[in-house]
Order: sequence, then structure tokens, then C-alpha cells
Amino acid sequence: MTKIINHSCQFCGKSKEDVEKLIVGDNASICNDCVHLCVNILADEKIKKFPGDKISVNPTVLKDYLDEYVIGQDEAKIALCVAVSQHFKRIYNPSKKIKLEKTNVLMLGPTGCGKTMLARKIAEYLDVPFAICDATGITEAGYVGDDVESILNRLIASADGDIDRAARGIVYIDEIDKIARKGENVSITRDVSGEGVQQALLKMIEGTIMRVPSTGKRKHPGSDMQEIDTEGILFICGGAFVGLDKIIEERTNKSSIGFTNHVKEQTENPNCYRLTTPKDIIKYGFIPEFVGRFGITVTVDELDISELVKILKEPKNSMIKQYQYIFELDHIDLEFDNSALQKIAEQAKALKTNARGLKNIIEKTLLPYQFDAQNLVARGLTKIVVNKDTIDGTPAVMVFDKKVKNEQK
Ligand SMILES: Nc1ncnc2c1ncn2[C@@H]1O[C@H](COP(=O)(O)OP(=O)(O)OP(=O)(O)O)[C@@H](O)[C@H]1O
Ligand SMILES: [Mg+2]
Repeated sequence: MTKIINHSCQFCGKSKEDVEKLIVGDNASICNDCVHLCVNILADEKIKKFPGDKISVNPTVLKDYLDEYVIGQDEAKIALCVAVSQHFKRIYNPSKKIKLEKTNVLMLGPTGCGKTMLARKIAEYLDVPFAICDATGITEAGYVGDDVESILNRLIASADGDIDRAARGIVYIDEIDKIARKGENVSITRDVSGEGVQQALLKMIEGTIMRVPSTGKRKHPGSDMQEIDTEGILFICGGAFVGLDKIIEERTNKSSIGFTNHVKEQTENPNCYRLTTPKDIIKYGFIPEFVGRFGITVTVDELDISELVKILKEPKNSMIKQYQYIFELDHIDLEFDNSALQKIAEQAKALKTNARGLKNIIEKTLLPYQFDAQNLVARGLTKIVVNKDTIDGTPAVMVFDKKVKNEQK
């Protein structure tokens, strides 16, 4: 094959003499200006490209990712993974024939079982803008507090101001149970019933074009507004729904009374949240329209002792690994034996705060050693072994480097 030697850029046509540099390949050539142009085009593309454009979310792969960080909660994980995958199918494959309806997710379950963590990890995996906000701070427009629009401002901020990216983000609204209607709760600064906030959230969750102040601050007349379509935003609302179990138990026991001849079996089922029906949530204090906006209800379960032990040591970023790293920075090898892990889990279980209690117990146990670490190292400390007695307050087993110790004598 004869080699074609080009003396001009094949993109812009400029000759070798008219450009700073001409890069000549076997069969083509390009000038420095055109290379620059291409680099810029690629950079622009990078900004506009959303992960969802390329990845259709495979629920099993997403679950594998969640498994690396979140222990247990298998059913919740599966439901969430499917919900997210469905959401991505919907926003990236609009069809003229079939309109896929927007489905948001309601996540219920006891405190400290991984609700917020699941939402956070999903957003991390998808690499989409993610905003967490607290429903307790939201008020109806005009009241003291944050308007619902402030939620979107947070999402836009998380997308570095890119509205298009924000419009495909995920919003996690925590403590949603706190906006349940409560008859006796009277306040002049916040809407009395919580119903107003539910109404205010309705439109946004359902999917609409909302106008938000571009400054990110509260609305005021004359401020610049920008529009964002919430149709492509996945809303996950989570809450501990304290007391919902009573409503569920009452309902399920009531139905069993008829059959069991007035013998009321008060079954204490820690995972009764799984039996939640939309009617229970309405009875809890939500308006039916609000409940209707959530096509998927996910429940997380109470964590048992063996799961709490796993949480301590297994996740990629587990608490034990974190503390070991902290001590490693002081050149101390920190070890927890199995009896210690079991004891921490048992104590956390007794506190009824699930995984939230674990950190407090470890922190309390390690506090004196963290305080004294550098002095202990100077005296030759190389290792601390925490066992079950250490958790109860007995000093941990400390291993010293004999050489340093002897030198100090
Ligand atoms: N299933 C789990 N696997 C691993 N770690 C967990 C799990 N559940 C909770 N944790 C740990 O406990 C912490 C608190 O959990 P998280 O914030 O997800 O609780 P929550 O269910 O949102 O509780 P709340 O209703 O009080 O907001 C997490 O940061 C994590 O360290
Ligand atoms: Mg939470």
C-alpha cells in the first residue's frame, strides 16, 4: 500500500506552513488547533454526560455494591435496587406509547438500621447528585423554616449548580414521619397539623416544574428564579414511624380476635413494619394523596446481635476498621477479640438504638486510650487488645515493647 503523506490538516484544511504543529499519521494528519478543539468538545461532553445515559442500572450489581457496606436488610435492598433501576429505565427511555408513571419510595423501619445509609450508598454508586434533608425543618411557604424549594436548592448545590444533572438526582427526605398530622400539636411558627407540609411536598414528589431561587436562599420578590423539572428526581422518604407498630398490631390482632374467641394475642413482632399497608400510614397521620405518591414501600428490619457483630467488623468501612486506623496513626495495633464484639453488640441491642449504639459503646471504651495514646507509645506500647471485660470497664490488655520499657527503667 502506498503511504499518503499529508501536508495539510484533514480537519480544517490548513497547510503545514499555516499552523504551529501538524501531527502526521500514516494515513491522516491533524493540526494543533483541531486537537484543541477536539479536547474541548470531549470536555463538554463529559459535563453533559449523565451516568444514566450509559448505565442502565443492573439491580443485582447495585445490590452487590450495597452488600459491601450495609449488613442484612436484604429485602429492603432488593426493593430499592429494583426501584432505582426502574426509575432509570423511566427517565432515560421515554416512550410515546407508554408513559411510565413516577414511582417514589417510602422507607420505614426502626432507628439506626440503615435507612439513611442505604440511600446514601445508592447515590454514591450511581454518581448522581444527592441531597439529604430533614422533614422536620420543612414548613409551608410563609412560615418560619425552610420552604420545600430549599430541598431542590440543596440538590442543585450538590450538582455544582448544574440544573440538568440535578434533575436526575436523588433526594432523601429523612424523618418523614414527623410531618404526620397531629391533632393536639399547636404552634404559631409551624403549620399546626403537618398536613400543610404534606400538601406542599405533594407536587414536587409527583413531578412538576418548580421554580427555585437561583441564589439558593429563601425566595423574595424580584429574585432570579430558575426552573427545575422534578419528574426525573427520585424521592426516597424515610422515617422510623415510632408507634406505627401499634397501629399494625391493633389491626392484625383485631382481625384475629374474631377467630380466636376473644383471646387477644399480643404478638410482639419487631419486624411488624413489614405488614404496613397504605391505610396504616394514613391512620398514622398522612393524607391519602401523599401516601398515594409512593408506589414502593420498603421496610428495614431490627438488627439482631449477629448482624450487629457483622456491622462492627465486616463492612468495607466498618467501625472497627476505622478505629484501628485511628490507633494505627499513633503506631498502636488495636485488636478486638470476638468476646468484645459480642459484648458491644449485646449492649447496643439492650439500648434499642440498633447500630447507632455501637459507636457510643466503642467510643466510651476507647476514650482513655485515645487520650493517653502518645504517652503510652513513648513508654513502648505497641498493641491494645480489647476483650469483653474491657467493654465493662476493666483495663484492656496492653502489650509493650520490652526494649523501650527496659531502657526507661
Ligand atoms: N445495616 C447496616 N449495616 C451497616 N451499618 C449500619 C447498618 N445500619 C446502621 N448502620 C450504621 O449505623 C449508622 C446509622 O444508620 P442510619 O443513619 O442509616 O440509620 P437510620 O435507619 O437512618 O436511622 P434513623 O431512623 O434514626 O434516621 C450508620 O452510619 C452505619 O454506621
Ligand atoms: Mg436516618
